[in-house]
Amino acid sequence: MSGTAKDTRTPKRVFVKTYGCQMNVYDTERMVEALGADGYAETQVLDDADVVLLNTCHIREKAAEKVYSELGRIRDVKERRAGAGHDTIVAVAGCVAQAEGREIVTRQPAVDLVIGPQSTHRLSALIKDVATKAPVDPFGTPRALVETEFPDDDKFRHLPERRPARATAAFLTVQEGCDKFCTFCVVPYTRGAEYSRPVAQIIAEAQRMVDNGVREITLLGQNVNGYHGEGSGGRATSLAGLITELAGIAALERIRYTTSHPRDMTDDLFAVHASEPKLMPYLHLPVQSGADRILAAMNRKHTAADYLALVGRIRDARPDIALSTDFIVGFPGETDAEFEATLDIVRRVHFAQAYSFKYSARPGTPAASLGDQVPEEIKSARLQRLQDLLNSQSTTFNESCIGKVFPVLFEKQGRRAGQLIGRSPYLQSVFADADQSVLGRIVQVRISAALPHSLSGQILAA
Ligand code: 5AD
Ligand code: SF4
Repeated sequence: MSGTAKDTRTPKRVFVKTYGCQMNVYDTERMVEALGADGYAETQVLDDADVVLLNTCHIREKAAEKVYSELGRIRDVKERRAGAGHDTIVAVAGCVAQAEGREIVTRQPAVDLVIGPQSTHRLSALIKDVATKAPVDPFGTPRALVETEFPDDDKFRHLPERRPARATAAFLTVQEGCDKFCTFCVVPYTRGAEYSRPVAQIIAEAQRMVDNGVREITLLGQNVNGYHGEGSGGRATSLAGLITELAGIAALERIRYTTSHPRDMTDDLFAVHASEPKLMPYLHLPVQSGADRILAAMNRKHTAADYLALVGRIRDARPDIALSTDFIVGFPGETDAEFEATLDIVRRVHFAQAYSFKYSARPGTPAASLGDQVPEEIKSARLQRLQDLLNSQSTTFNESCIGKVFPVLFEKQGRRAGQLIGRSPYLQSVFADADQSVLGRIVQVRISAALPHSLSGQILAA
């Protein structure tokens, strides 16, 4: 497309990139829907984009730095497009936006808009505001707008009507923010105080999703099992209560939730795992460390033994449950023996899946200013040992699935013709040869092979 002075193409195009957690994925979807209502179509081609939106993550240094290198690439594209007469609005949303605010514009002046995670519903209006300002020139005043207040009005009240679902499995944020203040974590600062959405609002959104073809919903929250939203009669409803109400939506077939905190594993949640067949037998329960002194320094407020007791209880409630977790290695002051305690808890639990990270000092968090930071080489060596052990456990878990019959929700086309990809109850991808008519449905599959990160099998006759 070459140099017309005024860009009159319709529709306008938005290029989106999402970093970090599933809550960002949810926020991105809502922002893209709102822009869609304003006439923007999504593009995968950066050079075509009138609006570039990065939804960012601040949880570890690496995640935040990735954003700046991407912004450098975007600046080049913006300059190239400006040369061809096209304006490009660059918007940074999410937790880097919240944590760094105007700093982002100082570091990368090509950025026009900085918008925190609680202001996502303001994106459309802010883009219009920016668009009415002259694009920044090398000598001009930056036109950048920064919106990182925690507004009084709730972003969830401004949800656009959903467009037809892009998938049969979807995320639904039910709780946001965190009051736990683990000493390593930026979330309480970037996402703010804990907030639970009212039950009726969630049920209405879930119903809309299901009406559009969604069959599996994952309830999201930084502390989702601390959910305590307002239910009927103004009474606080727990996550277990919410799950029970959602299970009443007939065409909704699967419910999941993530991420949980060990301290919020309540009796009714164990009970609903035992009684509700729509609740999938899978629990992501971060433990972070197996050493009590480190757990205390992290302000987790539980011990390794407490965690093992929870694992026992959930397995009693739902014997076929698969467990997943998060670990941090090299928290300040972590000794060799304390790291061994982490390996030890892994050997005791047997995780189906796990995420493990080197501790990353985050500005403004209490642990960042502790003495005794662990050297990088030691962190790397510990991470390698931990990941080797975790990988062997997930391989063992996947291999234990061979010969079993799983209900698989088929979601998309595989790479090979005739092949579809679905999801098992345990979140594994399952490859099977199947007719297109199976897409969006749950079908029984006999698992015949375990690959490192997926399974494959044959569909059983309906
Ligand atoms: N350094 C490394 N990992 C972290 N996590 C959170 N904060 C940090 C940090 N500062 C990890 C935790 C959490 C997951 C989402 O990210 O394991 O559970
Ligand atoms: Fe961060 Fe801890 Fe809150 Fe999880 S519980 S979001 S790790 S402060």
